[in-house]
This record gives sequence, structure tokens and C-alpha cells, in this order.
Amino acid sequence: MLQTLEQAIYLIGVIILLKTTYAFGNWVKDTFFVNKDSLLKYQTDSKNAYAVVTGPTGGIGQAFCDELASKGFNLILVGRNQTKLDKLKEGVSRRYPAIRIQTVISDAKDTTPENFSRVAEAVAAAGTVSILVNNVGAMNKLYGTLEETSSEELESIIRINCTYTTLLTKSILPILKKNRSSRSLILNVSSASSYGPGPLMSVYASSKWFISGLSEAIRLELRGSNVDVTCVCPGFVKSDMCQLPDAADPVVVAQQTFGKVHLKNFSPYWQHAATFGLLAQLPGWLKDRLLLTVVNQAGKVHNASVLERRKHN
Ligand SMILES: NC(=O)c1ccc[n+]([C@@H]2O[C@H](COP(=O)([O-])OP(=O)(O)OC[C@H]3O[C@@H](n4cnc5c(N)ncnc54)[C@H](OP(=O)(O)O)[C@@H]3O)[C@@H](O)[C@H]2O)c1
Repeated sequence: MLQTLEQAIYLIGVIILLKTTYAFGNWVKDTFFVNKDSLLKYQTDSKNAYAVVTGPTGGIGQAFCDELASKGFNLILVGRNQTKLDKLKEGVSRRYPAIRIQTVISDAKDTTPENFSRVAEAVAAAGTVSILVNNVGAMNKLYGTLEETSSEELESIIRINCTYTTLLTKSILPILKKNRSSRSLILNVSSASSYGPGPLMSVYASSKWFISGLSEAIRLELRGSNVDVTCVCPGFVKSDMCQLPDAADPVVVAQQTFGKVHLKNFSPYWQHAATFGLLAQLPGWLKDRLLLTVVNQAGKVHNASVLERRKHN
């Protein structure tokens, strides 16, 4: 009897050890491994596929455009400011002369059916479209509590991050499905703030939970189709949205993102991914305390920088 009990405990120990080793191995692979050929299956044999990128005129979106162009994808840039779009087009064309680039004006605050049908028409007319990068996003201009942030700003964050992204995806999906020359991809840009509560950016973080949830659900709905869905959750990245001196370089984030699109939901920058992986192991009370400290500190630095820039504009 005692011997059988010892054998059972031994067996359970071995199973736990194997499971832990397997989970750790997967974590190491997903955190540090970047597959430089991840995008190949979304390119056609004749190398004429288009990628649609929303919010391309800012930090991460702009880096996505360069990275996609470097992999031979033609671009459809969807933004609200024609001058900025033209400048971006000119810069990418200079660096990658073989890439065809189109621009489409669309304000993400405009969630009327006409806005989506106009973008979809322009996208469909371009030819073979295999990638949609839902990158456009807005955050509170200043870190602040729900009470401190205006209702107008909160509503605008929800509209841009959730409503626009959802309805644009719905409009472009039939075009991605129509692509028979390669597989198609929807890359949704969420945020590491979706991994836990987001104090001082509550509505922004919650909108990114929504994006992560939407991505998971449509990924399952599209199983068996030609469309893959993935969700990227960056930590702090240098851009207009994030004025922190030690934030990650958007160029590196873009490179690592496109090297990890085979994953379902991931943080692209290995330094961030490793930190979040370790944080997830901490007890809840300690995680909450650390989170509040980090966000309070980041908020102070970001707000000071935004207010300083406002003085000079
Ligand atoms: N930076 C970070 O630390 C960080 C971390 C995690 C996730 N993210 C996510 O990454 C994505 C890109 O952010 P980013 O940091 O690169 O921000 P960013 O530099 O502020 O760029 C935002 C982009 O969205 C566009 N945009 C904003 N409001 C718009 C509107 N109403 N209509 C159309 N376009 C609009 C901007 O266009 P204009 O140039 O015309 O303003 C710009 O192209 C967002 O979804 C963000 O939530 C960022």
C-alpha cells in the first residue's frame, strides 16, 4: 500500500515536472524566438500583395510600414491627414522604390457606414490584399483617473480603439477572404495594458482588453478559412502616445512583431515579454502594488513631457 502511494506521488511529481518544463520551453521560444520568414505565407508568388495599415503616420504604425515594405509588401495607408500620409508615402517610396503605395483618408472618429464602405472600396480596387494591420489607436492625452478624464476624451478612445477597429475589420474581411494567392492575416494592435488592470488609463487599457478578446474570438470564427488572426501587445514604445525616455524603439518592435505573427497573442519586444512573464508569477497583491508604482511613475514623466511640449506649441 505504502509502495503504491510512493509510486503515485513519484508519478505525479514527474508529470508536474514535465508540464512545467514544457511550459517554460514554450515561454522561452515565444519570448526570444523571432521567425524572419513569418510573413512569407502572406506574400503572393508574383510578390504583388498589399498590406493595409491604419494609423501609419505615428511611431509604431510608421515602423510597421517600413518593415512591410522591406518584405516586399505594397501598402495602403489609411489615415486622417493627407499631408502626413503623402510625406510618409514619399519617405517609404524613397527607401523602397519598387513598392506601390496608396493612401486613403479616413478619420477613426467617424464610425458611419459611409466611412467604412469608402475605405473598403479603395482597398478592394487595389488588387490582391493579404494583410490588415489594425494599428490606429488613441490614449488619454494625460495619464489620469476616470474622474479626471473628460467624458468626450473617454468616448473618443472607445470609438477609435473599439468601434472603428471592429467595423473596419468587418468591412475588409471579405476582401482578405477573397485572396486566393496566399494566406491572409489580420494583425490587431492591442497593448500590454490588456494583461492587467490599467490604472490612470482605465478606459484605454479596457479598450485594449476588448481588442485582445475580439482577436481571440474571430481567430476561432475564421479557423478553417484562409485568414489568420494575431494580436500584438507592446509595452511602452517611443511615440507621440508614449513620452518615456526609456521606452522601446518602434523599429525594433515592428521587426519583432512581424517575426512573431505565428503566435496568437504576444508582446513583441523580448525585454517586455520577459518582464511580463516574470510579473505574471507574482502574487496578486504584489503585482497590484508594482503596477501602481510603475504607472504612477510613468504617468508623471509622460504628463510632464506633454505639458512641456504644449508650452512650446
Ligand atoms: N506607444 C506605446 O507605448 C504603445 C504601447 C502599446 C500599444 N500601443 C498601440 O500602438 C498603436 C500605435 O500607437 P503609437 O504609439 O504609434 O501612437 P502614435 O504615435 O500616437 O500614432 C497613432 C496613429 O494613429 C493615428 N490616429 C490617431 N487618431 C486618429 C483618428 N481619429 N483618425 C485616424 N487616425 C488617427 C495617428 O494619426 P495622426 O498622425 O494623424 O495623428 C497616428 O498615425 C496604438 O493602437 C496604440 O494603442 C502603443
